[in-house]
Amino acid sequence: MSGKNILLLHGPNLNMLGKREPGLYGTKTLKDINMAVIDHAKEYGVKIYSRQSNHEGVLIDYIQKSKGYMHGILFNPGAYTHTSIALRDAILSVSLPVVEVHLSNIYAREEFRQHSLLAPVCVGQISGFGWHSYLLGLEALFLHLGVKTFGKN
Ligand code: DQA
Repeated sequence: MSGKNILLLHGPNLNMLGKREPGLYGTKTLKDINMAVIDHAKEYGVKIYSRQSNHEGVLIDYIQKSKGYMHGILFNPGAYTHTSIALRDAILSVSLPVVEVHLSNIYAREEFRQHSLLAPVCVGQISGFGWHSYLLGLEALFLHLGVKTFGKN
């Protein structure tokens, strides 16, 4: 039992997963993804708290409230990735490790998606592996938090 808590945070339009541009984002729903992350984390005694909002201010509130309760944040900021200085400031304000995840490879898409305002204040970013990006992001956060190790030291 690691006793660690992780906030799984999803930004705008991700509540539409499954129906939204399935050729790009896949057919899994947000609920499917949440369940997959929760199940995987359970194996390591890590508790996941999942939240989604279409509103920037609500996402900021979730980040601020995680201080003192969460050990890290797994975050798909959706389109706010490319626009939100306010979310960047929120991440800096809590000084918690954040892993940014994207279903699509944002660097293989439109130019306006190829820049993240948030990545520089995150531990790192996983982009382009469909819903598996979330599991890979979780593994990265586990590594960062010392929940597990990879390979030989
Ligand atoms: C996304 C990529 C963003 O550019 C887009 O606005 C999304 C989804 C992804 O997971 O690939 O809403 O974050």
